[in-house]
Order: sequence, then C-alpha cells, then structure tokens
Amino acid sequence: MNEKDIFILAIESSCDETAASVVKNGREVLSNVISSQIDLHTLYGGVVPEIASRKHIENIDWVIKKALSDANMKKEDITAIAVTYGPGLVGALLVGLSEAKALAYALKKPLIGVHHIEGHIAANYIEDINFKPPFVAMVASGGHSHLVYVSDYGKFEIMGKTRDDAAGEAFDKVARAIGMGYPGGPKIDKAAKLGNENAIEFPEPCLKENSFDFSFSGLKSAVLNYLNKNQMQNIEINENDVAASFQKSVVDVLVTKTINAAKEKGIKKVALAGGVASNSALRKRLKEECEKEGFTLNIPSPILCTDNAAMIGSAAYYEYINGVTHDLSLNAIPGLKLGEK
Ligand code: KG4
Ligand code: ZN
Repeated sequence: MNEKDIFILAIESSCDETAASVVKNGREVLSNVISSQIDLHTLYGGVVPEIASRKHIENIDWVIKKALSDANMKKEDITAIAVTYGPGLVGALLVGLSEAKALAYALKKPLIGVHHIEGHIAANYIEDINFKPPFVAMVASGGHSHLVYVSDYGKFEIMGKTRDDAAGEAFDKVARAIGMGYPGGPKIDKAAKLGNENAIEFPEPCLKENSFDFSFSGLKSAVLNYLNKNQMQNIEINENDVAASFQKSVVDVLVTKTINAAKEKGIKKVALAGGVASNSALRKRLKEECEKEGFTLNIPSPILCTDNAAMIGSAAYYEYINGVTHDLSLNAIPGLKLGEK
C-alpha cells in the first residue's frame, strides 16, 4: 500500500440494489458487492419503494463487510466514504446515506456524496483505465435518459433529457404489457433476438426534432394501442416481433441523438452508461455508427452498467481530488440535478 493511494469505500442504495465497493485511485475495483432485490420486486411487477428500503436495511451491513473483506482491507485503511445521495427513492437513499455518515463519523474519514448519474458515467473510467474527458455520454437507465457533455471530471452539460418516461422505464412498461415481467429490459433484449424488427412500424420518438430531448411515452402508448387493438380483434400477437420493433425505435433515437450530439460538440469520443447500456442491440448499433463516423466508443461491461457501487467509488475519487467533500448534514435529495454539489 502506497501512502499516496486513495481507497474509497462506496455505497449505493438508490433503487433496488444494495451495493458496496472498494475502489483504488478511482480506477481499480478491489471489490464490487451487489445484493439485488429484483426477484422480490418481480412479484409486484416493479420496484415497491417501502420494500426496497426495508431490504436495504437488512442487507447493508453484510454488503459493506463483504466489500471490505473481498478487498482485503480494514475499514481504518479506507481514505474516504462515498455514497449516492440522489437522485433515487428517498427511503432507499437514506439507508445508504445514514450508514455512510455513521461510518465517516466513527472512523473520522471524509464523506463524499455522489450523484447517481455521475456514477453511471464514471463506470467508463473503470472499464477503460485510459478513458478520460472530454466526451459525450448517453446515460439511459430505469429512471433517467440524459445526453451529457462531460467537459472534464465532475463537469457536465446536459444537452438533452427525457421529457417523460426514461428509456428503461419504457422497456419495463412495454415488457409488462406483453406479459414478460420485471425488469423488462433484459427480457425484451432476449425476445427481440428472435423477432423481426421491421415487422411493426412504431413511431420513432422525437427523432425528427432538432432538440436533443427524448420522449418515450408516445412510443409506449403506440405499443399498448397495438396490443389492445389486436387483442380486441382476436389477432394473435407475435411478442418477439413487438419486442424487436419497439427496441428498434428506442435504439434508433438513442443512437441518432448521441451521434448528433457528438458532432455538435466537435467531439470524437462517445460513452454509453446506465442499465439500458447493457442492451445488446444498442451496443451493436452505436458501435457500428461510431465506426462509420470515426468516433471512439466506450461501453462499460454489463455488470458496471446496471446499479453498482464501484461506479460511485470512481466518481467520488475525482470529486475528492478536486476538493469536494460533504459534512454530516448531507441529506438525501430524490430529485438531485446533475452538476449540483
Ligand atoms: O441503471 P439501472 O440499473 O437503474 C437505474 O438507475 O434506474 O437501470 C435499470 C434499467 C431497467 O429499466 C432495466 O429494464 C434496464 O435498465 N435494462 C435494460 C437491459 N438491462 C437492464 N434495458 C434494455 N436492455 C437490457 N439488456
Ligand atoms: Zn442507475
């Protein structure tokens, strides 16, 4: 262990994953423990906030202990404690935040509050240790769809965002309507491989507008209308075709807007982040389009795309070396804006 090394113990509990990780110098993941509640929420067709909070309380202690032991570290050797403090479900956030504050207080270590989306973007710094700003990032998750220009570490310009449903939310709602269950993204991804993406023409959300904003609720309604109309007429629905055609519309708009955003900024470096970044069609199409344009593309491995604490540890490192720490009055902010410190 070098004196100058910075070890961050990071905690993430904004939605339905209780996670802790030890990250060395922002780039090296020494442990990455994720306790998922997905099986539980699947029973209800989506995340139940109250159940999420209770499960976080049950799991947080052993998740943190395991993160330390997997990293072969004692809590005294940690440089700072990082935690997601927004956006997310307030009850869920508070569990991780209270734990982080208690640790920071007891160990007399600095506390670093991290924005969840900043964490998703930082997953790219772990995936490729040489990847650095400036770049344009498409962040698509269950709660957010943001097109972000990252001019430097911790410096963000939101170029566009969803006006209604997030991309992952649209995947989840459409999957539920087809009867595939929660979470919908991976299920649609799998079903789409067996379907014809040109079978049904669904609208491409906001594709023709010049803005970098998105809107997925019209597309979601178009899929629901298609399903209802066919059901009422007793016409058999090919679920794989619906999945593939819906996915194509989402992927088209995400890819087109990302490429246009990079061109607007004159940047040849693009990154993908968030749970939807694990979608195989999105990864493939964006790679092809970036190659055509001569852009470099970075995409985190699927385990770093969905919620985890390693990404929070990486983001926290860059905040910390830029002098950002928080005191123990830090509160959970469910609607925290990107760039707020
Ligand atoms: O980033 P994340 O784990 O949590 C949030 O911050 O919201 O994202 C979860 C979202 C869910 O909506 C899930 O359906 C979606 O990511 N997702 C996918 C895939 N894997 C997860 N969407 C499309 N294709 C996938 N393979
Ligand atoms: Zn997330």
